[in-house]
Amino acid sequence: MRKIYVFDTTLRDGEQSPGVSLTTEEKVEIALQLQKLGIDRIEAGFAAASPGEIESIRAVSRQVKHATLLSLARCHMKDIDAVVEALREAEDPCLHLVLATSPIHREHKLHMDKAKILETAASAIRYGRKFFSKVEFSAEDASRTEIDFLCEVTKMAIDAGASVVNLPDTVGFATPEQFGNMFKTIKASVPGIEKIQLSTHCHDDLGMATANTLAAIANGVDQFEGTINGIGERAGNTCLEEVALALETRSDYYGAKTSLNLSEIYRTSRMVSKLTGMSVPGNKAIVGANAFAHESGIHQDGMLKNRSTYEIITPETIGASSSKLVLGKHSGRHAFKEKLIDLGYELHEEQLNIAFAKFKVLADRKKNILSEDIRALLDENLADGPK
Ligand code: KIV
Ligand code: ZN
Repeated sequence: MRKIYVFDTTLRDGEQSPGVSLTTEEKVEIALQLQKLGIDRIEAGFAAASPGEIESIRAVSRQVKHATLLSLARCHMKDIDAVVEALREAEDPCLHLVLATSPIHREHKLHMDKAKILETAASAIRYGRKFFSKVEFSAEDASRTEIDFLCEVTKMAIDAGASVVNLPDTVGFATPEQFGNMFKTIKASVPGIEKIQLSTHCHDDLGMATANTLAAIANGVDQFEGTINGIGERAGNTCLEEVALALETRSDYYGAKTSLNLSEIYRTSRMVSKLTGMSVPGNKAIVGANAFAHESGIHQDGMLKNRSTYEIITPETIGASSSKLVLGKHSGRHAFKEKLIDLGYELHEEQLNIAFAKFKVLADRKKNILSEDIRALLDENLADGPK
């Protein structure tokens, strides 16, 4: 089984979510939890952003000892110097350099032609290598870059001494097939590609970040980048736990897995949500409150007979407590009876029929049926009460 390296950028791209700003203590708390989760590479911040950011990255470096630590830098000497300062105490540091390569960015943002992009990136990588044995180079907006030029950029990064080349879908524009083909071409055409690791980094503007990341993995990338709960710029980054669980659940298809401690996922998700103030939608894949909740009678009946009828992942796998059978108007007798047993009621067949009919009337009026509602309904209508 091929190992896929996991690069977490919750503390950098994730913190770029509008309205999110983490204190040093919060960054350290999250970084330590990411280490428990078994993340291979943790991007702790963007050192040149502020002196406070350098201090936060240094605080993370002092505590995290079992993951590679990175800080982002533009291809400027002063940004790289800030990373040197920030990662001074890191056990296993890596400089993360970024420069955009697409025509839109070259023309309107950077005012650089192709030759200038190659020269600027190469000299930044060479400068970075004076301080770091590991350098990742990211070609920002790679998915909107001409493929021939992207091959040249990748070759330049390898020759200049990068150890990882990351090709992002910065604005979430790619489609899975197109994005997979981009990596296929890079792998087949760039001389020396076997000397480095290839990485992918996607955004979710069209809701395709997970699919695009998986397409990149199917086409040979060694590393994927993402954030916990998918937080990040605009619509967010690739949701790390979705990719990890997709690889775990469909290893028959991908033949690749992460080495994450999956049972730490739920705890990590809750911590990031609490500290960033970004709530997780109930129907969110893997970590949403409803991800293991079943309401319809048909589903509940299936679940009571065999959980794998309607669950492809168990809540225990991600460290969540247990599946929930939620009582509502779609629920059937089987689940209702199980709930009564849970609450300590044992009804005769006829009593059960009456109670179930009353429950259905109540469920038409009330969306969330709580245990108290069921107790009230039974105590009102069946003089026997709990046995
Ligand atoms: O989205 C992006 O392209 C980035 C790079 C810095 C990797 O965040
Ligand atoms: Zn990004």
